[in-house]
Amino acid sequence: MSLDDAAQKPHDRLAAWLAEDMAAVNALIRERMSSEHAPRIPEVTAHLIEAGGKRLRPMLTLAAARLCGYGGPFHIHLAATVEFIHTATLLHDDVVDESAQRRGRPTANLLWDNKSSVLVGDYLFARSFQLMTATGNMRVLDILANASATIAEGEVLQLTAAQDLATTEEIYLKVVRGKTAALFSAATEVGGVIAGADEAQVRALFDYGDALGIAFQIADDLLDYGGTSAAIGKNTGDDFRERKLTLPVIKAVAAADAEERAFWVRVIEKGRQEDGDLEQAIALMQKHGAMAAARADALGWSDRARAALRALPDHPLRQMLDDLADYVVARLR
Ligand code: IPE
Ligand code: IPE
Ligand code: MG
Ligand code: MG
Repeated sequence: MSLDDAAQKPHDRLAAWLAEDMAAVNALIRERMSSEHAPRIPEVTAHLIEAGGKRLRPMLTLAAARLCGYGGPFHIHLAATVEFIHTATLLHDDVVDESAQRRGRPTANLLWDNKSSVLVGDYLFARSFQLMTATGNMRVLDILANASATIAEGEVLQLTAAQDLATTEEIYLKVVRGKTAALFSAATEVGGVIAGADEAQVRALFDYGDALGIAFQIADDLLDYGGTSAAIGKNTGDDFRERKLTLPVIKAVAAADAEERAFWVRVIEKGRQEDGDLEQAIALMQKHGAMAAARADALGWSDRARAALRALPDHPLRQMLDDLADYVVARLR
């Protein structure tokens, strides 16, 4: 078995355990992603949704609900809601980041245009709200509405922090908590809430999702420098081109001498990037151990995610969530 197969195992086990629920989620997604009136909508949504994606967030909702003993129908609606919110943010994110590849395919903004991506993203956001009202549960509506606002805040904060070498690890954490972890934690929390879990368990589910999301995004940011496009289904080097202050860059800038600082000012602040600069940036991050330190931080968040699980019932799904916390950072080994 290759390292990669081993790394994918927890995710696949979760998918196998939840296969019946996931089939219902996928059916609901397909049913709700289309529009009778505007053919552009099913074209764009099918392009992105049929490309797959790991379906991590809906699996988190299903797993949380099942783990807390839920036997009703609404975890399916909530899982589909979460994936719709995720898909909407991806459409918008690829416009903002001017990305050309997603899930191993050309992005919608490249195949159609920015206008289609923004408007279809809006449509999916609205559809996600229609979907969650089916539950009739005000608390899950509150959680998912808050998460949607927090994601947008995280993306806007990142926009204003980009190109700014004064960005601290504290600001980075705020960005990541907002743009990524907010949906992970909402995904797990609503699973517990719909199942009627007690408050300590709901809190543990939130904490697990929050820490898992942070670990996941740190890993994603490392892969933007150290991964391969084939493995991640996205172009590498996008963050550097967009002059984003992700964790390994923040750490390398903090350790820079005068000459190195001049390099960072030129490529990140002034945006005067030349051939070989990406390689030079990677070399500087490696020289100062910035990649290894960011990886250690991701592992720390993964440990926190696992620690939160202790408050939850002993169940095969709990073990899979535990393994999943490993998986999101195993991609880095
Ligand atoms: C991509 O998330 C957006 C980030 C938070 C980095 P995923 O890596 O879960 O995307 P898909 O759904 O599997 O394509
Ligand atoms: C992911 O942002 C978070 C959202 C989509 C809201 P990124 O820009 O870091 O993710 P990728 O690398 O494009 O998937
Ligand atoms: Mg992006
Ligand atoms: Mg982005």
